[in-house]
Amino acid sequence: MKQGFSAGFCARNAIEERRLAELTTFRIGGPATLITVHHRDDLREALACQPLWLGKGANLLVGDAGPPRPVARLGRAFAEISERGLHDGRLLLHVGAAVDLAALLNRCLAAGWGGLEGLAGVPASIGGALRMNAGTAQRWFFDVVARVECVLPGEEQPRWLERREIPAAYRSCGLPAGTLFLGCELALTPDDPQRLRATAARLKAAKAASQPLALPSAGCVFKNPSRELPAGRLIDELGFKGARCGGAEVSTRHANFIVNPERRARAEDVVRLIRRIRRRAWQERGIALALEIETWGCPDELRADPAQLPEEET
Ligand code: EPU
Repeated sequence: MKQGFSAGFCARNAIEERRLAELTTFRIGGPATLITVHHRDDLREALACQPLWLGKGANLLVGDAGPPRPVARLGRAFAEISERGLHDGRLLLHVGAAVDLAALLNRCLAAGWGGLEGLAGVPASIGGALRMNAGTAQRWFFDVVARVECVLPGEEQPRWLERREIPAAYRSCGLPAGTLFLGCELALTPDDPQRLRATAARLKAAKAASQPLALPSAGCVFKNPSRELPAGRLIDELGFKGARCGGAEVSTRHANFIVNPERRARAEDVVRLIRRIRRRAWQERGIALALEIETWGCPDELRADPAQLPEEET
């Protein structure tokens, strides 16, 4: 038995020690016990250790000492895509939470299923896309969700929630923190594959032109405070482009990205940069920037009232 798991659980699933820097797009993060749950019947045993659930690790900053709890991710049983037929002119598609969003999008483009092309270029697993209501200026993931299968915190049994029961908003699914998504049913619109491909290619190219996609990062760090004042423009106006703390740098291409160009940044470096940006945005513009990225094992002050932050380091 490993870490209190039954012998059967250990035989059917994977339990290993990993550095999360290997499993996050930021390439930052300390060690953790990582459980990969391959079988539905083993979910209950995995949930008992109250793990943190990992998707593609694309929107995540993990502390240098690792997360405070074991980490789990969904494996084989949750990586399937299946058609559920046409209803009212929409194709219903069941997608497991472990499916990669880019792989799903490619399949949709080839088959002529419209609705996801506005998410072209967004790195995510389906579970992560549900959790964060991943999106672009064109589309949010919940725009095409008909219902989701999830386990709510404190519960053991999966349940299905209809779209109308989910208060999804900008970069938030609106469900309690700790909700585990197992999959969803999407309602897609039949469309011309060539047209869908052209839209996806145009959006991907625009993203590549304005964002530092070749460097390790966690995407946009802060939520946009308003449509009129995107965080990237604000941070740019405050003069932060190129600012560095240790190995972490505010991207010179898009100021709402912090990048890890030499792959030597520590979480601590990113935390210091975030602190400086939040403090200046508050002092000079009266704006409390809120994190878009998820953090594990990082100081709580990242989400605190910026008026309470310590004086800026020089
Ligand atoms: N801008 C600047 N300087 C910068 C960056 C942006 O002046 O350094 C200006 C741009 O010129 C533009 C405005 O700010 O006028 C908005 O910039 P952009 O079009 O890049 O969009 P964004 O609001 O910064 C949002 C999402 C991105 C998504 C893009 C494209 C958020 C926080 N970000 O960025 O999502 O890819 O639209 O659809 O909502 C993410 O969530 O991780 C992410 C990258």
